[in-house]
Amino acid sequence: MGAKIISGTEIAAQIREELKQEVVLMKEEHGLVPGLVTILVGKNPASVSYVTGKQKTAHELGFYSMQDDQPEDISEADLLALVDKYNKDPKVHGILVQLPLPKHINEKKVLNAIDPDKDVDCFHPVNVGRLVIGGEEARFKPCTPAGIQELIVRSGFETSGAEVVVVGRSNIVGKPIALIMMQKGKGANSTVTVVHTGSKSMEAHCRRADILIVAAGVPGLVKPEWIKPGACVIDVGVNRVGEKKSEKTGKMVPILKGDVDFEAAKEIAGAITPVPGGVGPMTITMLMKNTVMSAKMSIK
Ligand code: GUN
Repeated sequence: MGAKIISGTEIAAQIREELKQEVVLMKEEHGLVPGLVTILVGKNPASVSYVTGKQKTAHELGFYSMQDDQPEDISEADLLALVDKYNKDPKVHGILVQLPLPKHINEKKVLNAIDPDKDVDCFHPVNVGRLVIGGEEARFKPCTPAGIQELIVRSGFETSGAEVVVVGRSNIVGKPIALIMMQKGKGANSTVTVVHTGSKSMEAHCRRADILIVAAGVPGLVKPEWIKPGACVIDVGVNRVGEKKSEKTGKMVPILKGDVDFEAAKEIAGAITPVPGGVGPMTITMLMKNTVMSAKMSIK
């Protein structure tokens, strides 16, 4: 029997509907509108597209949302001053500086200048520290790992006591999802192993996984024989492996492939995310969830 396909598109739509209701309630009960500002430096086409998607979703959810475009040659000092302006703006609950930044700007310095209480990306060291400590201390979760956790939980997989194997140790996905899944509490409490390029036997670890999360950035890295029958497989990889003509528009569009050999893996796994349409749609949605959370936290 084939695996259940976990649709990030459907789950993200469901969460956005829940958020919409929360925003309406927040307006009614507190006269408060969640505010998100996205700062884009330059005109990198991929960044423009990401930021446009974030703004569109914020707008659809009824947020106060603002796109702040800055020229490629903005000075670091001016960008820091801009961040500070939004740190002090009570209408803004979330600040996102789209990465990458131009080479003349110190990315770390800019990210660290964002007020941790408005850091909806969860990139600030204070928020990373809070995530490590967990429990009462935890606040935002970084968007992609938070989306992965939602996919697992909403697909009905038991996480408590489960063997979770994470392939990849990036600061954006591998490390934070490992931290999230090992925390005590609902939707977590798992036994977590992280494998990476220095691991002796990636395959042996993967074969033990009840929940396998792959964020390596290597197309087709995980082979079907690495998957335990019935496992939940979350493929975070989005690798461009070529181009094809779109049937809809006739334009050339990228061919995307995940880190897992999807066609073969879906015959063995219990559930699996597709690429595209799996983890991808969840990331923006979780950014919106963090912004709503930040707005809630601002209620005294
Ligand atoms: N560039 C690509 N992904 C991201 C993201 O999640 N946050 C920010 N700030 N920049 C990005």
